[in-house]
Amino acid sequence: MIALNALNILHKLKLLRLLTKKYKNDEHIFGGITFSNRLGTAAGLDKNGDFIDCLGALGFGFIEVGTITPLPQPGNPKPRVFRLFDQNAVINRLGFNNKGVDHLVKKLKSRKYKGVVGVNIGANKSSDGQQRINDYILCFNKVAQYSDYVTINISSPNTPGLRNLHDDKNIKNLIESIENSARELNFNKPIFLKISPDEPLEVIKSIAEYVQKSILTGLIISNTTINKEALKNSIYEEFEGGLSGSPLMERSTSLLRVINQEYPELPIIGVGGVMSKEDFKKKLESGALLVQIYTGFIIKGPRIVSDILN
Ligand SMILES: Cc1cc2nc3c(=O)[nH]c(=O)nc-3n(C[C@H](O)[C@H](O)[C@H](O)COP(=O)(O)O)c2cc1C
Repeated sequence: MIALNALNILHKLKLLRLLTKKYKNDEHIFGGITFSNRLGTAAGLDKNGDFIDCLGALGFGFIEVGTITPLPQPGNPKPRVFRLFDQNAVINRLGFNNKGVDHLVKKLKSRKYKGVVGVNIGANKSSDGQQRINDYILCFNKVAQYSDYVTINISSPNTPGLRNLHDDKNIKNLIESIENSARELNFNKPIFLKISPDEPLEVIKSIAEYVQKSILTGLIISNTTINKEALKNSIYEEFEGGLSGSPLMERSTSLLRVINQEYPELPIIGVGGVMSKEDFKKKLESGALLVQIYTGFIIKGPRIVSDILN
């Protein structure tokens, strides 16, 4: 957050362009939307839409803001983000700290960035059962008009019970509710479902099948993992929270590859562990239509954008 504030100041002073270069054109049209390139920010980096213009100025092809919830909430107690520089990884247990959907809508309305902005929506920690579904619908209805695409996030490990939305009955209920809202609003922009890498393959396949039959566009693969096997014998092995960065690359990319092979028509945004241009290419070769980064940006800094795009 401190780093983003610093970038924001540079942006306001019009100095950010010193950090960025012109990238070769890799325009990509998808769902009627033109992406200036295929590298975007993953959700969580700009939860409240406070840094859209500054992140846009760094050269990303698209920005995903959120996860946003209907009401503002503080998230879990600090410390809650751990940077593991040796492993190119982060463990976080933020728990959807955010300023609420109304704040985000204001930021979306006032943005100057002309590129693609997707909004990632979630549910408040205090909401359960049908109220949880209602939270998604409330956010969807509020952001629909101001976003280029919407992501439904059912995969944060830091909101207790949220991942239960991967279950057959729950996911059908959620998708049907979103479908109803989308029809009422005449919403015809892309809608993605962001999934966990920790569910059994059969569960992910049945979700993919259901998404393909629904009004939804595709999947984002994947969110962080709670599997800490990669950190064996380190103090972090027992840390609670989601692991991202290099230790997630293999798992999230092989899941992406398997789902792409089985459902080649299903658009997928690949995310998890991208630290270099090679990783970025691997995601595309494995079937990703677009790629997002978060941990690579934290660990390597803004120059990762030019490293990947040049
Ligand atoms: C500190 C932190 C906060 C995150 N917050 C969110 C979030 O609010 N919503 C979401 O869908 N994913 C969130 N994520 C997950 C990322 O969007 C991404 O799926 C995951 O970190 C894997 O990508 P990476 O290895 O490039 O970081 C967060 C990740 C980190 C490290």
